[in-house]
Amino acid sequence: MEKAARRKRTSKEAKTICFFNNKGGVGKTTLVANLAAELSLNHDKKVLIIDADPQCNLSQYVLTDDDFINAYYSRDSEKDAEPETIFSVIRPLSLGKGYNTKLPIRNIKEFGADVIIGDPRLALHEDLLAQDWREAKAGGIRGLRTTLVFHNVILQARKDYDYIFFDMGPSLGAINRAILLAVDYFIVPMAIDIFSSWALKNIGDAVKLWEKDLAYGLSNSEFPSEVPNFSKSNLKFVGYVTQQHKERSRDGSARIVEAYEEISNKLPAVVKKQLNSFYPSSMNPHLGEIKHLASLAPKSQTLHQPMISVKAKGSFTVSRKQAREIYQALALRFFENIELLAAP
Ligand SMILES: Nc1ncnc2c1ncn2[C@@H]1O[C@H](COP(=O)(O)OP(=O)(O)OP(=O)(O)O)[C@@H](O)[C@H]1O
Ligand SMILES: [Mg+2]
Repeated sequence: MEKAARRKRTSKEAKTICFFNNKGGVGKTTLVANLAAELSLNHDKKVLIIDADPQCNLSQYVLTDDDFINAYYSRDSEKDAEPETIFSVIRPLSLGKGYNTKLPIRNIKEFGADVIIGDPRLALHEDLLAQDWREAKAGGIRGLRTTLVFHNVILQARKDYDYIFFDMGPSLGAINRAILLAVDYFIVPMAIDIFSSWALKNIGDAVKLWEKDLAYGLSNSEFPSEVPNFSKSNLKFVGYVTQQHKERSRDGSARIVEAYEEISNKLPAVVKKQLNSFYPSSMNPHLGEIKHLASLAPKSQTLHQPMISVKAKGSFTVSRKQAREIYQALALRFFENIELLAAP
């Protein structure tokens, strides 16, 4: 029997979590892939990752070179087969055909997780989602169906997983809005820089407004039975992960170190101020800090293996050990906060 089939499931329905910061390059994709691997390989959890970033960095990371070619380049040109990606989920809606009934899920052995791979063409459909959002707010069926496309993916998949993770691009555009409205939880990966903390305000403000607009649209819907079952969106904040994107000791001047310390010290208060309505005051939202792991990060990308299991020797042995400690601690804090938030 396959390992996946033997796994014990801890809950009946997956917890759905997106990883978002509208500041780019703060380590979102690296965190999503490596936390999924930690939960799956070391805690026996079933994780589905959805690459909803048109940049497709996550798909490039987790697919082996062979799988990448098989996934994206159809060799059978006569059949003109379409690659099976997140686009296969969105496309039928854009053609007015309703929801896709089969999800294009594939297994990623090295990461121990399943994935729906990304598609650059998703960017083209940002417009569709944006147009339909206007209609959704007014209660239009087509608009609501498009807006709830990721919610529908979750309904189809959630019985089979403990966690469904969404990797997203760094924008507050229509795709990310549809995801933030569909998931139960969000995590904010952040660099210790001023833009990253400004981003917190944007997320909090935007989500509150969208939740209100969607609730209004749903309450005005002419044919409620035509829309997937969606009670209310009540997004919760699991926490933030700080990423040390620079090796501070080598990184030069006292001013940089000082600025870093100052932002770092202020961060808990900033998070509390901007996001307090998304989590209880008894929760510590700082999930952990990921130190700069030097060449382990690019090595893990080249090998398409999570940092905790990169098969390489030399200096990688030390940084792999650090990665294991970091991700082990992160997973425990993650479970702690999820448990607290999920408690009735
Ligand atoms: N802990 C780390 N140590 C060293 N390098 C890292 C670490 N985490 C991420 N990186 C590197 O930083 C770069 C940006 O990371 P990543 O792609 O995960 O960011 P992102 O927030 O997903 O970016 P985008 O906004 O473009 O989606 C990558 O080249 C990655 O290898
Ligand atoms: Mg990314």
